[in-house]
Amino acid sequence: MPSEDTKILLRESELPQRWYNINPDLPAPLAPPIHPGTGKPIGPEDLAPIFPMELIKQEVSMDPWIEIPDDVLRVYKLWRPSPLYRARRLEKHLGTPARIYYKYEGVSPAGSHKPNTAVAQAYYNQQEGVTRIATETGAGQWGSALSFACALFDIECMVYMVKISYEQKPYRRMLMETWGAKCIPSPSDTTNAGRQILAKDPNSPGSLGIAISEAVEDAATHEGTKYSLGSVLNHVLLHQTVVGLEAKEQLKLAGETADAVIGCVGGGSNFAGMAFPFVKDKLSGKDIDIIAVEPKSCPTLTAGEFRYDFGDTAQLTPLLKMYTLGHTFVPEPIHAGGLRYHGMAPLMSLLVNQKVIEARAYHQLSTFEAALTWARTEGIVPAPETAHALRATTDEALKCKETGEEKCLLVNFSGHGFFDMSAYERYLGGQLEDHEYSKEAVAAALKGLPQVAEPG
Ligand SMILES: Cc1ncc(COP(=O)(O)O)c(C=O)c1O
Repeated sequence: MPSEDTKILLRESELPQRWYNINPDLPAPLAPPIHPGTGKPIGPEDLAPIFPMELIKQEVSMDPWIEIPDDVLRVYKLWRPSPLYRARRLEKHLGTPARIYYKYEGVSPAGSHKPNTAVAQAYYNQQEGVTRIATETGAGQWGSALSFACALFDIECMVYMVKISYEQKPYRRMLMETWGAKCIPSPSDTTNAGRQILAKDPNSPGSLGIAISEAVEDAATHEGTKYSLGSVLNHVLLHQTVVGLEAKEQLKLAGETADAVIGCVGGGSNFAGMAFPFVKDKLSGKDIDIIAVEPKSCPTLTAGEFRYDFGDTAQLTPLLKMYTLGHTFVPEPIHAGGLRYHGMAPLMSLLVNQKVIEARAYHQLSTFEAALTWARTEGIVPAPETAHALRATTDEALKCKETGEEKCLLVNFSGHGFFDMSAYERYLGGQLEDHEYSKEAVAAALKGLPQVAEPG
């Protein structure tokens, strides 16, 4: 029998003590990152200039469980375990027999799931004597999460923020500066990568691919500085699994098992964090739908190709085997800035390719429509990124209404939208539009991909 509770809470003492590493459980081996110069798999020494060694070890670890350090757990306790809510009012509004649960990651100080890895990354950097970290941010959620984490571990933080978001979300920048970080719009004239883009297109709205190039270059050219990525890489997805591990315990307390797990995908971290502990069950035979939701204007999983590509525009990163739209593709300036990324986490890409995870894409107007319905029934105003997951969850619930199925739906409510009011203002004012992505631009970007002989 499902519980009568609306809010399912764990005690601090029930916080997971280990992260779940899906790598050893994968249905096929993960293709290694390739050095663009040699065409060979990269080794730890290639990554050491920009990442601390402990994170490099986690990147390739085959241990199924990795201990969460006490210092990280102590910071997690500022907001974790996060609540799991039953969306009773939404269910009633939709008239669905489905039971909808959402894991609310907006309770973190920065307002999203991003601090789950930011805190871990700041901790490992501090342990290895790093005094400054450079990073990129799309909508500003990752930049603010890392600014917060760096403040706690006494590390300087330099954030390259995608220009269109810098302009759309000025208060995210203030938040970063409040935590002591420096934030500049990308492309900027402070790096070679930024200057090259500006020379070609002085009005470039920026993209995550460009901002990553600037942050990597910054880290490689400044003493005592490392680079930090807020998504995509294995260790980032690993740190996020605390979300799904908690959710599983909370569903158990509620007397439920999930029939579907849903999340939005930019680089894949919040989705993986929620879904991977359930993917483990699916791989051992459980019938469960795992649904990743992306924007139609940046349809990496639904229209991209699964092949080796650079993680950034200026080709500074190793080559990753992933779904990609091409590293030079600049997505339309939709408001879900955190979903405007040309690539996808290699772990996510493999699982989509293996048909363990299903991918869907939505236009932004339909996601805002779902966001408003949630805000007006459940109260919490979602981030535009999260709204994509809520659209798919709403659609699943409406499908249950048609079929009469009493499914248990679990969604990762990855962040609140309190800093996204300009997007809501435009939506409510009827000024927001859907953006069709340019098939020609994607085809051109894919043409520019390096030819890589697959190892092995
Ligand atoms: C609230 C929120 N959800 C989702 C995402 C997408 O990132 P990821 O796919 O790494 O979870 C972002 C990225 O900025 C975000 O801010």
